[in-house]
Amino acid sequence: MDIRFSDETAAAVAADLLVIGIAEGADLAERLAPLGDAAAALGDAAGEFSGSAGSKTSFPTLGQLPSKRLMLVGTGSGSDDDIRRAAGAAGYLARDKKAATLALDLGDLSASQARAAVEGIVTGNYRFDKYKTREKDRKPAAEAATFLGACDQGQVSLALASAAGQALARDLVNEPAAVIYPETLADVARGLAGDNITVEVWDEHKIKAEGMGGITAVGQGSSRPARFIHLHYTPSGAPTKTIALCGKGVTFDAGGLSIKSSGGMQTMRCDMGGSAIVLGVMKALKSLQPDVEVHAIIGAVENMCAANSFKLGDILNIRNGKTVEIHNTDAEGRLVLADCLSYACELKPDVILDFATLTGAAVVALGNFFTALFSHDDALVSELLENADAAGEGLWRMPLFEMYKEMLKAEWADIKNIGGRPAGSTTAALFLSEFVEEGVPWAHLDVAGPTFLDKPMRHYASGGTGQMVTAVTRWICG
Ligand code: BES
Ligand code: MN
Ligand code: ZN
Repeated sequence: MDIRFSDETAAAVAADLLVIGIAEGADLAERLAPLGDAAAALGDAAGEFSGSAGSKTSFPTLGQLPSKRLMLVGTGSGSDDDIRRAAGAAGYLARDKKAATLALDLGDLSASQARAAVEGIVTGNYRFDKYKTREKDRKPAAEAATFLGACDQGQVSLALASAAGQALARDLVNEPAAVIYPETLADVARGLAGDNITVEVWDEHKIKAEGMGGITAVGQGSSRPARFIHLHYTPSGAPTKTIALCGKGVTFDAGGLSIKSSGGMQTMRCDMGGSAIVLGVMKALKSLQPDVEVHAIIGAVENMCAANSFKLGDILNIRNGKTVEIHNTDAEGRLVLADCLSYACELKPDVILDFATLTGAAVVALGNFFTALFSHDDALVSELLENADAAGEGLWRMPLFEMYKEMLKAEWADIKNIGGRPAGSTTAALFLSEFVEEGVPWAHLDVAGPTFLDKPMRHYASGGTGQMVTAVTRWICG
């Protein structure tokens, strides 16, 4: 979507959808006054409108204005997030109404408000309808959004870069597993090469030879062989620090021999959501070129139920030398990440983040808006919470309580791959901690809830949300 700026008035502009922001408690007549003669009639149509964050109404202008449809959106307190939601609602409605052009008067926008507005409008306008063949079911994306009035454009390119990364992550999650499987996920990574990014892909033989027993085991039951993907962004100047981002890339999670129910399997194409976030962030970095070095590490597998699937009681050798006893083949993400985290530590980064649709327990605890954050590093936690908040993405710290490691004790190997039902997302995080070298700042983000929506939420359409791409891009690039 093209983002434009204009000093045209709301009364003069001709857009498919004209959007006027109303602050909480603002005088409606005053805000609509710039619409001139049309204001009174349109104000009547608007009726009571509080301007509270998230409120919205829209109606056709019936020839009273050059624009075809008028939408009023609440800008609430005028906080960045309220502005984001207002713009998001506009982007969302524009798609539903097949509006190709939007004009928005959300009041004077500061740099951070404009950034949030652009993030919101792109997020809201996203749909995944490429497989709908009937004309009435296909709603094209908006071509352009024009901001009317004073607007500090200083951070708009940051917003557009993270929005493009977010859209990539959403597309990857939404695509069926028949389209996105380990090799095609690697192709997407290869497509990001260039502009200071290199991409290396290992096949299943190399993965095995490199001692990655977790990725090997989980991937072996599929006719789509595993891939290990390493993207490396090096800035043109000297890097200020080195970051490693690991992503769970289970392109379909059938559960393996501990097979899922049909209902539980329905949306498991989303189980590469962590890797989609990592690729989305790399896409944003490609255009933003920050002065940090970033490694993106993805273990891509299909967890299938087959004659050669890994089995209960198997003992896996993870790359860092530790052994894992298998008690449930559906707890596979942690096995894939164990190899990825071990490899990440070898690169000696200053900090490691991992992203994974790891546990149903995280969804039970926090629902679809909040990602569960686990880390021993209080400073890192604060930074991530702050950036998620600024991005309008939900992130909530959970306990990484060492005493619960007890639950992962194995009889035959160093550790077992499940800890039982209590604190399921914490024991999963504790499992991962076994594969991160002592002293390396590390945070685990369990994105099982926000990665995929069964129904729309706020200005997110159903399906992939790309949540955390914006937060992490902000954390890296400011
Ligand atoms: N991919 C699932 C977790 C998941 C659940 C993601 C719902 C998104 C939505 C993961 O591999 C899994 O199956 N976890 C098991 C772990 C259990 C066997 C210890 C779970 O959460 O039930
Ligand atoms: Mn699973
Ligand atoms: Zn999984």
